[in-house]
Amino acid sequence: MIHPFTLKAFEEAIVLLRKGELIGLPTETVYGLAGDATQDQAIARIFETKNRPSFNPLIIHGNSPAAFNEHVIWNEKADALAQIFWPGPLTLVLPRQPSSSLSLLASAGLDSLAIRIPHHPVALSLLEAFGGLIAAPSANLSGKVSPTQSHHVQEDFPDLFILEGKDTSIGLESTIIDLTGTSPELLRPGGISREDIEAVVGPLAPPSTSSIKSPGLLKSHYAPRLPLRLNASSPLEGEAYLAFGETPLKGPHTLNLSENKNLQEAASNLFRMIRLLDKTSLKGMAVAPIPLIGLGVAINDRLERAAAPRGL
Ligand code: TXA
Ligand code: MG
Repeated sequence: MIHPFTLKAFEEAIVLLRKGELIGLPTETVYGLAGDATQDQAIARIFETKNRPSFNPLIIHGNSPAAFNEHVIWNEKADALAQIFWPGPLTLVLPRQPSSSLSLLASAGLDSLAIRIPHHPVALSLLEAFGGLIAAPSANLSGKVSPTQSHHVQEDFPDLFILEGKDTSIGLESTIIDLTGTSPELLRPGGISREDIEAVVGPLAPPSTSSIKSPGLLKSHYAPRLPLRLNASSPLEGEAYLAFGETPLKGPHTLNLSENKNLQEAASNLFRMIRLLDKTSLKGMAVAPIPLIGLGVAINDRLERAAAPRGL
C-alpha cells in the first residue's frame, strides 16, 4: 500500500522496521526495499520478497559517515569520496570490520560491505529517526526494471508498506566503487559519472568481470518483457521507440528520454519510460543511440543489460 508522507505513516514505517519487517523507501536514485541491517530475519525477508539470489549482497544505508565507523575499515580515498559525494548516488565498498554487528546475510558472506548515504529527505529523516542502518536493494523483483515511482513498487509488491516520496530525481542506481584493493575499481556505473569520481581519486580500474567482486552484476538484469533493440535511429514496424534528442516521431508508442539531449533528464526518465513502453502490445522496443559520456555510460550499461539474452 502507498502511504503519503505524514507523521503517522513515518512513525508506522519505523515501527515496522524495528519489528524486522520491510518497507518501500524513496531514495534519490530508485525506490529501495528497506529492512533493519542488523536483523537477519529482515534481511532474509528482503531476499525472499525480491526472489534475489542469496549470493548477491545488499547496500547498507546510513545518514552519516560516522554511522559506518564500527562496520567498515575506512581509507583515505574513501574519506575523500564520501566527503565530496555524500549524501548522494555513490556506494563505497570497503573491508568489513570483523566485529560488525550487521547481518552477515546482508553482505552475502563477503568480507566487504557496500555503504552509502542517500540524498533524499524522506530516506534521510527516516534513517535519523530509526537511528540505525538500513539494508535496501532496489524495490523490484530480482531481474526486473528498478522503480522510480511508488506505484512501480506497488506493481511488484502489492502488500508492501510503501512510504511515498517525490519521484526519484536521479533515476539510476548509485555508482559503486570498490576500495578494498590497491586501486579503486568501478563495479557499477551509476548516478555519479566516472569522470567526476576520477577527478577526486585518479583513474579507476575498469568494471571487474570477477563474479566474486560484483556478484550482482548479472548480464541479464533490468529485463523488460519486450525485446530491446539498441542504437536504433528509428523503429521498425511494430516496435515502440525510445528516442533521445529531436525525433520526427510522435505518438503513443514513442517516448523521448530527453528532447534536448540532456543526459541527466534521460537518466531520470529511463526506467519509467521503459516500463511504460513495456505495457504496449507491440513486438519490441527500439532505443535511440545514447552517447557514451558522463551519465550516458550508466544509461548504456542498463540498456545493454535490458537487451541481453535472458537467463545469463
Ligand atoms: O541506488 C542504489 O544503489 C539503490 C538504492 C535503493 O540505494 N540500491 C541498489 O541496490 O541498487 P541493488 O541491490 O539493486 O544493487 C546493489 C549492488 C549489487 O550489484 C550488489 O552485487 C552490489 O551492489 N554489492 C553489494 N554489496 C557488495 C559488496 N560487498 N561488494 C561488491 N558489490 C556489492
Ligand atoms: Mg537492483
